[in-house]
Amino acid sequence: MNLESVKNQITKVLVTEEQIVGRVAELAAEIDAKYAGKEVLLVGVLKGAVMFMADLSRALQIPSTMDWMALSSYGSGTVSSGVIRILKDLDAEIHGKHVIIVEDIIDSGLTLSWLAGTLESRGAASVDVVAFLRKPDAAKVDVPVWLVGFDIPNEFVVGYGLDYNEHYRTLNCVAVLDPKVYS
Ligand code: IMP
Ligand code: MG
Repeated sequence: MNLESVKNQITKVLVTEEQIVGRVAELAAEIDAKYAGKEVLLVGVLKGAVMFMADLSRALQIPSTMDWMALSSYGSGTVSSGVIRILKDLDAEIHGKHVIIVEDIIDSGLTLSWLAGTLESRGAASVDVVAFLRKPDAAKVDVPVWLVGFDIPNEFVVGYGLDYNEHYRTLNCVAVLDPKVYS
């Protein structure tokens, strides 16, 4: 979906499609370098990380497998509740694997710090976190993030997997949702 179709529902574009393509290649190169000679298990958090996972995984040169978790912390609103539930767990054991958590965005950081701890306690050989976007509040929590695609201001954004009430995930850039859409 291109910008034109949602022009009247967004206030500005924060990250363009071109910027995304360039940054994803850089992130993949960092992963290739750190994990050279190893295989990684990419753990994606549904559904927001779907687009990022698809692009990042294909940009990697090292071997990788994929698994998915679905967590809930937000409900349908725009403010984090801090309560995390597993809606769908991983399909397979992660014991001894090099796990890379692939996240769409770190806001409060509550989801990630909980998830990283959970996967470590399952006996992964290593756990790293790669997040496509990060908001300023993430600094308040001790989140173990290795790589971040883009640091963005504290605004509600949609696109490239990120939704508002399940909409706008297929937008090919990251844009600030016009508050009139949710108020
Ligand atoms: P956290 O636990 O507060 O870090 O929440 C992270 C999750 O909230 C992300 O994985 C997103 O699904 C959702 N989220 C946070 N900020 C936004 C946003 O600006 N747009 C869409 N979803 C968001
Ligand atoms: Mg979401």
